[in-house]
Amino acid sequence: MSQAFTKAMARNIFYGGSVFFMLLFLALTFDTHTAWPQRDNHENLTEQVAHGKRLWEENNCIGCHTLLGEGAYFAPELGNAFKRLGGADGIKGFIASRPKDGIPGRRSMPQFNFSEDDLNAIAAFLKYVSEMNTASWPPNIQG
Ligand code: HEC
Repeated sequence: MSQAFTKAMARNIFYGGSVFFMLLFLALTFDTHTAWPQRDNHENLTEQVAHGKRLWEENNCIGCHTLLGEGAYFAPELGNAFKRLGGADGIKGFIASRPKDGIPGRRSMPQFNFSEDDLNAIAAFLKYVSEMNTASWPPNIQG
């Protein structure tokens, strides 16, 4: 009875557990990758959307905002901003109208002086993102 739990048993639990969770991780990764094509909205990926994405990067929007949870927590989540602001006109009007001071508890976004083309592209990019199947994330319209 003295050898209830041996080193060999501990080793087997360690290796067995490691292999089990490694395989589970690989299976879930595979499952996620096979689901993407149905969920990522790539059929609506136009040149205008790509232009919007480029502007998104060049102007470091992610330095203040999150997009689907990734980014900085200074400014609102924009994954569903297209729906929240009521479509392309809402997005364009908002960006063009900044900076706007005096909103209690809120700092204003700076002015970027985008052309009409650029504004359309940013709106198209945010529309594209809002139509991805993210399993209802963000959980509410406020982001
Ligand atoms: C310096 C930080 C900063 C950067 C960079 C920035 N924003 Fe913002 N943005 C804000 C802040 C702060 C708000 C919310 C305050 C307000 O009403 O202006 C906001 C709000 C918004 C909103 C409205 C969100 C809502 O639900 O009310 C949109 C759309 C938006 N930003 C788009 C962009 C885009 C596109 C870029 C890149 C071109 C960008 N932002 C870059 C700070 C930033």
